Formats: sequence, C-alpha cells, structure tokens
Amino acid sequence: MPDRGACTVIVGCQWGDEGKGKIVDVLAEDVDIVARYQGGANAGHTVTIGENEFILHQIPSGILHQGKRCLLGNGVVLDVQQFFQEYDALLERGINLEGRVGVSLRAQLLLPYHRVLDRVSEEHATEKIGTTGKGIGPAYGDKVGRRGVRVADLSNPERLQQRVSEAQERVQARISQIGAGSAHELEKTIKDALDLGERLLELGTDTGPEIMGALNEGRKVLLEGAQGTALDLDHGTYPFVTSSNTTAAAAATGTGIGPTSIDSVIGVVKAYTTRVGEGPLPTALNPEMDEHMRELGGEFGATTGRPRRCGWFDSVITRFAAQVNGLTGLAVTKLDVLDTLPELQLATAYRLPDGSVTATFPADTWSLSGIEPLYETLPGWQASTGEARRLEDLPPNARAYLDRIEELTGAPVEWVSVGTRRRQIIPVG
Ligand code: IMP
Repeated sequence: MPDRGACTVIVGCQWGDEGKGKIVDVLAEDVDIVARYQGGANAGHTVTIGENEFILHQIPSGILHQGKRCLLGNGVVLDVQQFFQEYDALLERGINLEGRVGVSLRAQLLLPYHRVLDRVSEEHATEKIGTTGKGIGPAYGDKVGRRGVRVADLSNPERLQQRVSEAQERVQARISQIGAGSAHELEKTIKDALDLGERLLELGTDTGPEIMGALNEGRKVLLEGAQGTALDLDHGTYPFVTSSNTTAAAAATGTGIGPTSIDSVIGVVKAYTTRVGEGPLPTALNPEMDEHMRELGGEFGATTGRPRRCGWFDSVITRFAAQVNGLTGLAVTKLDVLDTLPELQLATAYRLPDGSVTATFPADTWSLSGIEPLYETLPGWQASTGEARRLEDLPPNARAYLDRIEELTGAPVEWVSVGTRRRQIIPVG
C-alpha cells in the first residue's frame, strides 16, 4: 500500500452511492479525524458491522471506530433535527460520543422550510431533478444568496430571530403563491429545530484550525465527500446535480484548510454504474438487465429507498473524475455483484449524435441523451469473490477487469471491496 500522507480525501467518481461509507469505514481505522466537507442529509452511508447495519446521513462513518473525532465542516448544510436523531440513535446503540463530534460554527443550518421548499419546487417544476427532498438546493440557495443562518448565529438569539423571521416570510409568500402548507405548521417546526440550538452549539468548533492543528501534530485526517463527481454543481450533469461541489477541491474550502495540505485523493468507483434521480445515464442497461443488476447489487437508495438505475462501467466519466479530482488512487467497490455475469461491458468512449467519437465527458448535458457508448466486452469470472482478501485470491478474469478499469481511468487501484462487511476488502499493492 503506497504511503498516502497525512491528509486524504475520499471522493465519489460516478453519480454517488459508490460505497464511500465502506471505504471511509476501512480507512478510518488508521486516522484520527474524519471530516465531512459538503452536502447534508441527502447522503446515506450504509455500514455493516457484524450483524448490525448503520445508515448514516450526516455524521461521518468514522464514528463507528472508537476514539475517532468526527467533524462536519463549514461546507455542509446541517439539518439539526435529522442530525440529533442520528446522534441519539448512535448513543442508544452504545456508541460513546463524548468529545467525538464537532460541528463547524460556519456551517449553514438547514431548517424545516428548506425541506418544504425543496418538495414544492420539485412538485411544481417543469424540469424535475428528482431530489432527495431533504432541502439541499434551497439551503445552498440561501447560502449563496447570503440569506442563510449559520451555526454561530445560534449564539445570538436576536440576530437568529431576525434572520429566521425574514426567511419564514419569504418562504410563506412562496408557499401561499403555489398554495401549499400552512404558516402555523411551519412556525412550530422551526421552533422545534431551533430548540436544539443550544445542544448544537456545545459541539461547535472551528474545523480549519482544528484540522491544521492535528496535521501539525503529526495526526492523520480523512476528508469524506458525499454524492459523486457527476453530481457536482459545476462539473456534473447540470442541472441534474446536487447543489454543492462534490469534487476533491471542495474538501479544502468545505473544511477551512488550504489545498496544499491535502496529500492524496482516493476516488471511489463502483465496478458498474448506478444513478438515482433524473438526468442522463449514458451506459444504462436494457430494462431486463437493469432489473437483474438492481437485484444483484441491492440498488435501492439509502436515503429515499428509490430504485437506482444501473449501467455498465463508464470509463469516460471515471477518467473525467480522475482529472477533476486529481486522483492519486482508486477504490473499486461491489466487484462481487458481477460474480455471476457471463460477460461484462466497459464503455471506453461516446459516439456523439454527429457521428464523431469522444473520450472526454461532454459539457452539454442534453447531448448525453443522444450519445452511443462504445463498449469493450470482457469475459466474466463466474466465481465467488466475497472471500478474497488478496489480489491473488481473485479469478484471473476479475483481475483483468480491474486492470482495465485502472488503465482506462488512469489511477492505480488501491482497494477492492468484495462485499458489505468490513472484512470484505482487498488492499492492493
Ligand atoms: P439533492 O441533493 O437532494 O438536491 O438531489 C439532487 C440530485 O442528486 C438528485 O438526482 C438526487 O437523486 C441526487 N443525490 C443527492 N444525494 C445523493 C446521494 O447521496 N447518492 C446518490 N444520489 C444523490
């Protein structure tokens, strides 16, 4: 295993749901701090430990390792109610959280009206995004519109009241305009959320100095991304994206450290592709195969339970992800899901509607629905990989498949995951 240095970013390189939670869980063993840098409760990480399954939406999966400190950076939009539900559920399951969770004082609060706005906007949109309904777009909209409320504001009741009242009026006007919800309900839910403010402030920290302090003392840090590169607000399939920068550079701005403090970036890719929500999926499978792959991979959203669309591995998007994230390594997940398939396809390029061929990911999202992926066919291995713990334990065809992914993506494979359990992982190299 190459030395990754002290500060590592974990980033999704497809449309989210790549299995980042599992990889973070494995790497967390070796670090002192795990920090989330963007997104909110739209993420859902499922981690299986023994017979226990944990689904985490906001708290980094490093929390399942004793003694690790877990941070939510300034780039996160924090849904206070959902956060404490998760926090209390961990306490109930016997996880010691004393001094282990820190929340940036600069993080934006995601308040109940953001969730209401998200749902009504989707209901009334002509071009639906298929959001998770967690209020992410409206919360980031308030942030860039400089109307947001931050964790630090909780310490000043008057300022907080003023900002929340203004937001409430705005939201109410919008809701009445489209005829949804009632003022009374909204007031009560906002009050319930803000009642948790004091508890949240107790966890308040300045993530930048905290992380830099740890690095300067020789400790190790993992910066955990949510969603994936193709859902990045700038680099993804806009407008069918989430409302934050999911890519590795956001790990610096979203926690408050400089980019030169990051030593390595591990891109997580599933051994095939999935997408949930609206928007193009160039390597989508035919309906029968799609259904089959969904069953094999258990491809249903951890946050919304929605079925994910499935596709073949798309090296056009992963090569693009390698470049935009500056990947130093790859973690390939869910290889075992392909165990029974007689042959596999890998997309190496796209034929555009005008007949030309490109190996780079097009900026024009709409053109993606008219493209034809060019595939390479590789033989399957038709053997179980779940018990493999070293690269040599894998069937030759599985190794050839990984070699080709590495070649086409342009980053070395460092980890291969062959099942949901913690021990089902192969360190490479
Ligand atoms: P939002 O982030 O809820 O606004 O949703 C915007 C788009 O991102 C939708 O297509 C969602 O399905 C997708 N999305 C958001 N979070 C995740 C995730 O954690 N995994 C996969 N897709 C996601």
